[in-house]
Amino acid sequence: MELEKTKLPRHVAIIMDGNGRWAEQRNLDRIEGHIAGTESVRDVVTCSREVGVSYLTLYAFSKENWSRPKEEVNKLWGLLQIFLQSELELMQEKDIRFNTIGAIKDLPKKAQRMLANVMDKTKSNRSLMLTLALSYSGRQEILHAIAGLVEDMKKKPIKRLTEKVFTRYLYTSKIPDPDLLIRTSGEMRLSNFLLWQMAYTEILVTDTLWPDFRRDSYLKALQEYTHRERRFGALRGR
Ligand code: IPE
Ligand code: IPE
Ligand code: MG
Repeated sequence: MELEKTKLPRHVAIIMDGNGRWAEQRNLDRIEGHIAGTESVRDVVTCSREVGVSYLTLYAFSKENWSRPKEEVNKLWGLLQIFLQSELELMQEKDIRFNTIGAIKDLPKKAQRMLANVMDKTKSNRSLMLTLALSYSGRQEILHAIAGLVEDMKKKPIKRLTEKVFTRYLYTSKIPDPDLLIRTSGEMRLSNFLLWQMAYTEILVTDTLWPDFRRDSYLKALQEYTHRERRFGALRGR
């Protein structure tokens, strides 16, 4: 597939949805859908690295997902640990830096330790930054940022609160805003993902379920993005 390299998104964010439906269609347990979904994660990560996307942010678990049955939630943390164990080598080999956003302190301690370990081991990798959003909520992130800002203001007043200053307090302070958001399995909503950061992100919703969203689907989405015209409120072509 021909991709116009200069028009590729620098940062792609993905709401990986439809694992449960994929499993239900096959009369399987929901966790089987999540397991199949990790293959799609591998494809999308490898492909991002190959084509030259610099930042990839994957919504893996929302704060709202804590309201799912305990059994599913626990299995998801187990799956995350297996994933981290098996992917560290690939991340090292492909020069991928691993990162997380969200209320990580709410995760099981073992998962937290493994996340910290993978982040530490990959911290000098530069070709792609892979960020997993875990126990993430866009509104909580904004509140968390305000709390940090207020704390700092007590020490030293901030003269002018600009967008740039505020952005420094977000989990994503070192990451540019997403250029493209992909949501799989047809739902047309943000589900509390990167609310501040996606003010001007291009949105692409596909009916493909996440476990079926492999390399070809991803390349097709990237290609569609290269044909979008981003105006940011200005007039075309100026
Ligand atoms: C997305 O798939 C993965 C997570 C939210 C953890 P779902 O589990 O939401 O799948 P559906 O929406 O029920 O099909
Ligand atoms: C969004 O999917 C969260 C993740 C993909 C991790 P959900 O399936 O939880 O979202 P809703 O319930 O359809 O909004
Ligand atoms: Mg869902």
